[in-house]
Amino acid sequence: MSQLTDEIQRRRTFAIISHPDAGKTTLTEKLLLYGGAIHVAGAVKSNKIRKTATSDWMEIEKQRGISVATSVMGFEYRGYKINILDTPGHQDFAEDTFRTLTAVDSVIIVIDAAKGVETQTRKLMQVCRMRNTPVIVFVNKMDREGRDPFDIMDEVEAELGIKVRPLSWPISMGQTFKGVYNIYRNTLDLYTPNKQVVTESFQVDVNSDELINHIGERDTAKLREDLEIIEGVYPEFDVKRYLSGELAPVFFGSALNTFGVRELLDCFVEIAPYPQPIEAVERTVNPLEENFTGFVFKIHANMDPNHRSCIAFVKICSGKFERNVYYKHVGQDKMMRFSAPTAFMAQKKETVDEAYAGDIVGLPDTGNFKIGDTLTAGEMLHFKGLPSFSPEMFKYIENADPMKQKQLDKGIRQLMDEGVAQLFVNQANGRKIIGTVGQLQFEVIQYRLEHEYQALCRWENIHLYKACWIESDDEQQLDNFKKRKAQYMAFDKEGRDVFLAESNYMLQMAQQDFEHIRFHFTSEF
Ligand code: G4P
Repeated sequence: MSQLTDEIQRRRTFAIISHPDAGKTTLTEKLLLYGGAIHVAGAVKSNKIRKTATSDWMEIEKQRGISVATSVMGFEYRGYKINILDTPGHQDFAEDTFRTLTAVDSVIIVIDAAKGVETQTRKLMQVCRMRNTPVIVFVNKMDREGRDPFDIMDEVEAELGIKVRPLSWPISMGQTFKGVYNIYRNTLDLYTPNKQVVTESFQVDVNSDELINHIGERDTAKLREDLEIIEGVYPEFDVKRYLSGELAPVFFGSALNTFGVRELLDCFVEIAPYPQPIEAVERTVNPLEENFTGFVFKIHANMDPNHRSCIAFVKICSGKFERNVYYKHVGQDKMMRFSAPTAFMAQKKETVDEAYAGDIVGLPDTGNFKIGDTLTAGEMLHFKGLPSFSPEMFKYIENADPMKQKQLDKGIRQLMDEGVAQLFVNQANGRKIIGTVGQLQFEVIQYRLEHEYQALCRWENIHLYKACWIESDDEQQLDNFKKRKAQYMAFDKEGRDVFLAESNYMLQMAQQDFEHIRFHFTSEF
């Protein structure tokens, strides 16, 4: 195997997704602990990683104590290079999280055993389903009283639209939690609560009497019964079905107590996909190709408000990226080289000379990059990225300082390029409407316009339900529709027609009255 192939195939780039508080940060920390990337678990407050990795980058984040940004944590484990893409925990930043999912090859979903599937997880899973991203489920907090594990399995299947296959199974829970039986390896992992140290596992056959010595008669009987049900009800674990995004293996544990995490990680490195082919408009790009290609999936703004400096996060899609080599910025059709690309190892950011497909590099930038931009060794290529989703909140944005119109326009344009929110321009009156997935984003935008662009904005309420991208083969009906709904028609940033529905009722009526028009809730169809 060539060195390039070898390097790429040992990479595992993934994201951990969950509803806030399910334990994503804790699990991330424990994974770093196993990777030797940090040395003491529990010594750092659980969300400290998120904070140290990101909080200097935006003042507003410090003020609010909410992680606005996405960061990357790389580490080595058993010869694998693992890249965890952290996703913002706050639900207002779902848009950011969606985009991060374009840069990963698989995900681990963390579910709180007491709460089951929650809203945020459901939303993020939709994106994974669209892209057939392979999913592993980790049911966390088994040290607490939680729901019946079979109920959780049913809920995951029903709510997340994916088949499951338990690869470990809990023995009791909460106060009487004994551990898990690792079905994948036929080992018994006994639980001893410990925030620092890893629990040992025993090789015990489920039918041997030895099991009773460890967990007692009642739990042994229950475990045997459960395992029989599992064998009867769930399909055999099939890696191919996992890789095609149809089947999710499930593990149980307690991230806080460092329990069940190693089993998860060991299985993960074995089955999780290495960098996969990625679709560009022109062709499919294979990660093992010699030539470098990559795209910008995230822009981290303004480490220093006095200079418009940001970091563009580039996912390397193929080949090897090298420092100081000229690459083509396809959108601007110009060659650029980067003297200080950074890689992300654990909580540190350091300059690197090279990086491979699957890795993320941070490129210091002063406004050259937008979300979705493609970089190549010279080829004209456009990666497809992720479609925009209909925002959930809308407001008119107005200039509050007539002397600063230019600054405001520039600020809005750049913030939209960064992907902070979506801009729609009303076709009838030219007014600008900002769409977000949460209230906080309006505050972030206002704050950043003021501090980075010296522009003042004002928000004006507008009651809208959804933005729908519309299309039709029936030109006449489309024209009719646009005339009838002129005041609700807008352009998105690419100049596409978007219908802004005031209410679900209005949308349904429109769908009824104009049956040849297709209404889409994402910009790619
Ligand atoms: P998040 O990133 O998904 O938002 O969750 P995070 O890891 O910050 O965990 C949320 C809370 O759940 C934390 O408690 C954390 O300690 C706790 N937690 C995580 N895993 C487990 C587990 O396996 N068992 C139990 N019992 N608790 C767990 P906190 O009180 O909010 O924060 P902290 O003061 O403990 O840091």
